[in-house]
Amino acid sequence: MGARQQQAEAGAQQAHWDAAYESKTASGVSWYQPHAARSIELVTTLGLQPDTPIIDVGGGASTFVDSLVEMGYTDVSVLDLSSTALETAKQRLGPDAVVEWIHADLLTWAPTRSYGLWHDRAVFHFLTDQDQQQAYLDKLGSAVARPGYAVLATFAPDGPARCSGLPVARYDIKELTRRLGSVGLQVVAGSREEHVTPSGVVQPFTWVVARTNRPK
Ligand SMILES: C[S@@+](CC[C@H](N)C(=O)[O-])C[C@H]1O[C@@H](n2cnc3c(N)ncnc32)[C@H](O)[C@@H]1O
Repeated sequence: MGARQQQAEAGAQQAHWDAAYESKTASGVSWYQPHAARSIELVTTLGLQPDTPIIDVGGGASTFVDSLVEMGYTDVSVLDLSSTALETAKQRLGPDAVVEWIHADLLTWAPTRSYGLWHDRAVFHFLTDQDQQQAYLDKLGSAVARPGYAVLATFAPDGPARCSGLPVARYDIKELTRRLGSVGLQVVAGSREEHVTPSGVVQPFTWVVARTNRPK
């Protein structure tokens, strides 16, 4: 894909996600959860230092960032393509919260630092094109510190085939292990979760925790 076509596609994607957050409000979207319980549970098991750089990619308007700040993490970034979602989270947290808000398309974003934790709930699975999946994984592999961790949640094989009107790729623990292994991360834990949407629909997710397994 040429640069101009990529830019046009990113613009269309941004409009799509802004409209999703505007039409339903942050607490009405299907992926809404009042508390990012599984994310917090998994992060707690990692025993990270309070100053560990943490990034929530495609964090949207999730309250995961609120919990991280409350837990005392001091170096938290949230990246998203939707300025509407970021603004919702920013307003909710208020001006005193020290968070780096990154408005970017993660496929073209060039990380300028390493992160001790890369968190992604329900973003990687929107990449259905092999080249985009590889671009994402390469970015993750180079942005995660050594030592460092990634926590990923995607729809499970029996999860929905579409979300927010878009097709998704679905993964089991074995496939996420293979994909993350290809960029130097070793899966150390995997689990299943059944997310219940605000309208009561059950959506099975696959969660993995992976760590970097070789020095840079
Ligand atoms: C299903 S939502 C999940 C949001 C959040 N992780 C959560 O658990 O509530 C997917 C999010 O990914 C964002 N997103 C989709 N494609 C993206 C991209 N290429 N770069 C950055 N963010 C993206 C959307 O704007 C949206 O906020």
